[in-house]
Amino acid sequence: MTSKTGTECFVYMTLPGETESVTAGRFELTKDRRGNALGKFVYGKSYLARGNAVAIDPIELKLSGATYETARLNGVFGALRDLGPDYWGRRVIEKRAGIPQLGELDYLLNSADDRAGALGFGLGQNPPAPRRKFNKTLELAKLQEIAEALMREEDIKTEEAAQIQDLMLIGTSMGGARPKAVVEDADGLWVAKFNRPDDRWNNARVEHAMLELAKICGISVAANRIETIAGKDVLLIKRFDRAKTGKGYTKSRMISGLTLLRAEETPDARWSYVLMAEELRRVVEEPKRDALELFRRMTFNALISNIDDHPRNHALIAKEREWSLSPAYDLTPAAVVAQDHRDLAMEIGDLGRYANAKNLLSQHTRFLLEEEEAKAIVSGMTDKVRTTWYDVVRAQGVTEKDAETIRSAFVYEGFSF
Ligand SMILES: Nc1ncnc2c1ncn2[C@@H]1O[C@H](COP(=O)(O)OP(=O)(O)OP(=O)(O)O)[C@@H](O)[C@H]1O
Ligand SMILES: [Mg+2]
Repeated sequence: MTSKTGTECFVYMTLPGETESVTAGRFELTKDRRGNALGKFVYGKSYLARGNAVAIDPIELKLSGATYETARLNGVFGALRDLGPDYWGRRVIEKRAGIPQLGELDYLLNSADDRAGALGFGLGQNPPAPRRKFNKTLELAKLQEIAEALMREEDIKTEEAAQIQDLMLIGTSMGGARPKAVVEDADGLWVAKFNRPDDRWNNARVEHAMLELAKICGISVAANRIETIAGKDVLLIKRFDRAKTGKGYTKSRMISGLTLLRAEETPDARWSYVLMAEELRRVVEEPKRDALELFRRMTFNALISNIDDHPRNHALIAKEREWSLSPAYDLTPAAVVAQDHRDLAMEIGDLGRYANAKNLLSQHTRFLLEEEEAKAIVSGMTDKVRTTWYDVVRAQGVTEKDAETIRSAFVYEGFSF
């Protein structure tokens, strides 16, 4: 499906507890007089009239009859953009369309209807029937093959169109840069993340181990496991925005940290844990619990040198009406050489993005923590990571060689300066 007008689409919502969607409103992408992208969104009157209507975004798109406008993010409201494809999915869509670059609306309309969160996009006034068929975990071998063909740029032209179409049906609308697919088994839906040939270590195993280490540090993480397909490891992460019921899947709404912060795609002053803590405190059901959880995640990222902790690697979800921080995902260590100073992707405190214990503690009140409480968390987590990381990664099947390659990521010297 491509957009006929190229400028408008309907936005559908699967309401809390439901498995079928309803039309929530209309999104229009135009240009202002200067030629800059301008997005407009308006909720449908019949949607607003529902007793059970919920907002797409608790900050930017509150339930009201207003016409909302945005010029940020190429005119696509953050809460809509969050559910569209990123580097990986866009590449798959471009290959299928045979066009090197499509419009923002085309990416939303052409991606498969298995996107994160509770929204859908289409040209029909009424939403299509929900997807009932997903690729099965049993088909992972084939999916891995197609993903690999897509990664080997030169082979793609000879790849059968039908195969790419198969991959199209799954996972293109999940965000992120790494190759991935969505698969189903008896327990529900999973995000499958594949290794890349140019990875420096077995990414699937290491990410799996980091989720385990995070759990040991008291962080809430999505259920996950490793499947070995044709000798290669694939990381399966349970989708936390879907719940299986007798009549299909219910969906949780989801917005990224980037949307919560109303930040731009490229790093700016709003890329900040401190601001994120304040923004989430205004929105979530349990501010104290979630601010503490965010503090733990920020500390963990500093302790494992996860310098790719950009705002899209955080999310809020709402299963019912109320919002909360989603389980943690995409935790990856970086094997950095420098031992005295490392920066995370987001601001931590008074010393900027510096991954350092003093910096972590400098804004504790914004995370609703007393100084002593914050100190105890940082020192407790530091001890845990220092003393257990090696045993944890080895127990999760990371090879000795890979463990040595990532060794420099954990509790680097500058953390305690
Ligand atoms: N378990 C999950 N349930 C629901 N949505 C998820 C889950 N894990 C990830 N997502 C969504 O999919 C997106 C991509 O996942 P992830 O960040 O793991 O991929 P990535 O390709 O490694 O990302 P990056 O480009 O940051 O390296 C996330 O930003 C999030 O919106
Ligand atoms: Mg990510």
